Amino acid sequence: MKTQWWKNAVGYQIYPRSFKDTNADGIGDLRGIIEKLDYIQDLGVDCVWICPFYRSPMDDNGYDVSDFYDVDPLFGTLDDAKELIAKAHQKGIRIILDLVLNHTSDEHPWFMESRSSLDNPKRDWYIWQKPRQDEKGKRIPPTNWASFFEGSCWNYDETSGEYYLKIFSDKMPDLNWANPDLRKEMYAMSRWWLDLGVDGFRVDAVAHLSKDTSFTDSEMKLNHDGVAPDWSKFSNRPELFEYLHEFHDEVLKHYDCLSVGEVGGGANVKAATRYAGYHAKAFNMVFNFDHCWKNGAFGSEDKTDDELTVNVLDLKETMDRWIQGMKGKGWIPHYWLNHDHPRVMSQYGNPRKFHRASGCMLGTVLLTLPGTPFIYNGEEIGMTNVDYTDINDFNDVWVKNYYEKAIKRQSPEQILTHLRRTSRDNARTPMQWDDSASAGFTTGKPHQKPVGNYKEINVKQQSEDPSSILNAYKHLIRLRKHGHLHSVLVNGDFKLISPKNKDLFVFERKKDDVTVLVVANFRAHEIRYKLPYLPKAIHYDNYGLAEITKEIVLLPYQALVLEK
Ligand code: NOJ
Ligand code: CA
Repeated sequence: MKTQWWKNAVGYQIYPRSFKDTNADGIGDLRGIIEKLDYIQDLGVDCVWICPFYRSPMDDNGYDVSDFYDVDPLFGTLDDAKELIAKAHQKGIRIILDLVLNHTSDEHPWFMESRSSLDNPKRDWYIWQKPRQDEKGKRIPPTNWASFFEGSCWNYDETSGEYYLKIFSDKMPDLNWANPDLRKEMYAMSRWWLDLGVDGFRVDAVAHLSKDTSFTDSEMKLNHDGVAPDWSKFSNRPELFEYLHEFHDEVLKHYDCLSVGEVGGGANVKAATRYAGYHAKAFNMVFNFDHCWKNGAFGSEDKTDDELTVNVLDLKETMDRWIQGMKGKGWIPHYWLNHDHPRVMSQYGNPRKFHRASGCMLGTVLLTLPGTPFIYNGEEIGMTNVDYTDINDFNDVWVKNYYEKAIKRQSPEQILTHLRRTSRDNARTPMQWDDSASAGFTTGKPHQKPVGNYKEINVKQQSEDPSSILNAYKHLIRLRKHGHLHSVLVNGDFKLISPKNKDLFVFERKKDDVTVLVVANFRAHEIRYKLPYLPKAIHYDNYGLAEITKEIVLLPYQALVLEK
């Protein structure tokens, strides 16, 4: 039976590499997650999405899979995965697998076969095209399309004299979803994991499963690398939805599982109903990126941190567009960041002057929106972006590709500032458990340097402080999941109040005779505000004040959850 349990869930995303290391090799592992299940349960979340832990050469930290049916030794064993699933279930926590359908590693046996000769039966499981020649007769890629990870999306293969498509790194060849045998294999693999006990999937890069097979150049202006960042060539294309229906029929519909697709920035609200409309026969929900990057981080190298401001109007208009657009049509998830984004504390909060208040404020907004919220590990203690001053401290494959090209046009200082604000490594530093060496993440040498502030910002310290961000998240999760506000917070209508206010995010949630008013100050200064009514109850105030008057002066980053 389909229970739609995911509607009432609060999700928690774990980046396993950086969560908890138990064997001192400096890399987080599945036993580390098992060890921290009590922490996860105590936080109050009940659905954990874990980034890939399959066998992988780790070019893209596990998104480059070389064996879908095994756990990479860095993370542990398949028995560890089974134990993790069983122990999580005992605690009422569901486990969501990160399902990578768009590509494999170039070290996957399928690709090794595919590249071995032009007539290998697996040749068509990937996307191969002949080279072109420029006017001077020099070999050039089949099209001018860019890759998400810099440069061309084609890589030349000497053995067979053709190019393979790879929209991410060179070591991540795209699978050819037009091939029915490949699709069947992917469905069988997905069912294998569900039969093993996982409770659903976050489906990686799903918007890209089908490509423009005319393989013609994009008309778009070429970027500084001479390629066209024209994502429409391999995003949200019509055949993709046929594959999703097939995936639904062959896999999803047979299980009481969650399916959440990653559709990125290319898909609008209308497209989202095709991916995750109630009647779409595809996914339960999709992650979009539209609310990210509303602080002008890109191109901000010459500004100081204090000069970056959050565009609150844009942020709330964007969220409102998705919430109203999907109302009655489909369910949506909410998140502030994932492992591909900077830390929300550094983007929309204020780590230098109002760490506690702004972290609590961000948690308040996230946990009172309609839909299913997902917290990213470390967000619940307000972890921040990196403080690295050496390019070698960064680790991400995209950063490395970027640096190689950017150094031709920018100074190392500008690049470092850019990366400290935008790089994916910001979210991938070791989880800050306590103030011991390496933030209590490992007793060995951590694979990546912890952020220097771990002595002040860590789980141990915040567990002991009743007013901490961690305790605010716990309180807000309890409010959402238990007690009389549960139904209104999960299912109630959403209405922006004072939509034109450029500093405050104020909204009302309403269901039957319960109305909740959420007020959030996104600024580091006081703001006068007139509440639409005097509330009968204060369910949360990050400054812990005892009373509220109708005309209030909101303190910096103050957040309130009030009941009418
Ligand atoms: C999206 C994932 O979130 C990201 O980390 C990864 O690099 C790409 N997909 C490719 O798998
Ligand atoms: Ca380890």
